[in-house]
Amino acid sequence: MKSDGDIPAHVAIVMDGNGRWAKQRRRPRTFGHQAGLKALRRIVEYCGRLGVAELTVFAFSSENWKRPKKEVSRLMELFMRALDKETRELHENGVRVRFIGDLEAFSPELREKVRQAEQLTANNDRLKLNVAASYGGRWDIVHAARELARDVASGRIQPGQIDEDLFASRLELSGSRDPDLFIRTGGEMRVSNFLLWQGAYSELFFSPVLWPDFGPEAMDEAIAAYQSRERRFGLTGEQLRQKSA
Ligand code: FPP
Repeated sequence: MKSDGDIPAHVAIVMDGNGRWAKQRRRPRTFGHQAGLKALRRIVEYCGRLGVAELTVFAFSSENWKRPKKEVSRLMELFMRALDKETRELHENGVRVRFIGDLEAFSPELREKVRQAEQLTANNDRLKLNVAASYGGRWDIVHAARELARDVASGRIQPGQIDEDLFASRLELSGSRDPDLFIRTGGEMRVSNFLLWQGAYSELFFSPVLWPDFGPEAMDEAIAAYQSRERRFGLTGEQLRQKSA
């Protein structure tokens, strides 16, 4: 990574590989998720130091509800404990926490803890941490479409007013810039329904490192790859060079 190079302002991460990491150690999957939480803490701190402004992590997908009941309930316990244990420290370090996803699916206790964490950290501006839980990119898009349909039905807006900006304003992460860098750990090369709309122009980086082992060094590698890319947003390289000249 070039220290004087461009640091991505918004990084999105699919934190994959906890289960395999645990299996390699002959431990239950939950052990991997606990180690995953430690890795997240390390990466949040590192992103703060690097000057990344926003980090969005995939903690639990809409599809993860279909995992064995025991794993789901252990993950819920882990989220509860993490909120209890980590919120104060995140707050003291200037991190603003926000959850994105279908929170209606969570227990009232968990929803209340999320609300408290969001409220406590609402005015922090060192690093924005968005935790996607019960989230799916398709859910996000359908949810936005439903809201817009309601507005059309009630006469608040006309169909012709719906453009990309208005649509994006109804999505989770409205008000955030789109992720510059999209990382998936754990070796699979899929987007897996994460930030489908928002990631349209993100630079993708797939790391073979399992999430619990993903630390500053692996992050530096992802940023170095990002710094070596030319982001064209549909333009030609020539046009880009003219624009920045
Ligand atoms: C994917 O690995 C990981 C998850 C489904 C859970 C991610 C959760 C954490 C890292 C804890 C974060 C906690 C908070 C509070 C945000 P996997 O189980 O799919 O791994 P595998 O592909 O090796 O089976």
